Amino acid sequence: MPHDTPPTPPSSALSALRDGTHTLHVALEKRLPFFSDTLDLERYTQLLAAYYGFYQALESNLLACELPEGFELSTRLKTPALQQDLRALNVHIEALPLCDNLPPLNNPASVLGVLYVLEGATLGGNVLRKHVSEQLGLDAHNGCAFLYVYGESTGKQWKAFLDYLGSVPLDAPAQALAVHAACSTFSCFEQWLEHQEVLL
Ligand code: HEM
Repeated sequence: MPHDTPPTPPSSALSALRDGTHTLHVALEKRLPFFSDTLDLERYTQLLAAYYGFYQALESNLLACELPEGFELSTRLKTPALQQDLRALNVHIEALPLCDNLPPLNNPASVLGVLYVLEGATLGGNVLRKHVSEQLGLDAHNGCAFLYVYGESTGKQWKAFLDYLGSVPLDAPAQALAVHAACSTFSCFEQWLEHQEVLL
């Protein structure tokens, strides 16, 4: 009788990243106002503008740093989708503040930890997109492109990222750097959003 192929076990780097960031994810998710009754178009626009201040600054640092070998960043940038949404919502992007307290990118292992967070953040996007589109009547053309940045390819993109992550040789010290950078990404993002007064 044929047997289903068992799912690939998570790489040790992935397990370390998951374990290391789980509490920070739960805490931030609780404070984000996507599912709040008070979310209206104005608050949603403020929230996206605050996201932009973080993503724009972090992705421009990523573009300037030494990426882990073989990683293709250009197709994974999320700032263009945020710009598209903010323009659709009539926000003057050039006037928005940018975050200057950002996670370390001074070695490829740290970069990998940051990329794990940015890529993983697309996974909740589909749920958020459905809710925002019901609550505010937005779609990819009028303000909700970022939340569904990879569209139908979200699962495929995540799997490709996990395959990539599993293929990078990381010894224990490098893994610790990756986890530290991933945790720092969550905490810098939360602090920035807090400072922008968009959290619950
Ligand atoms: C209200 C907001 C959020 C919701 C509802 C949410 C929800 C989710 C869900 C459902 C998953 C698991 C998806 C799956 O296993 O298929 C996930 C994974 C993940 N999310 Fe979020 N998320 C939110 C915000 C964020 C933010 C702001 C970040 C980081 C900036 C983030 C980073 C991650 C990461 C790194 C993973 C991957 C965990 C893994 O290794 O499997 N999430 N999120």
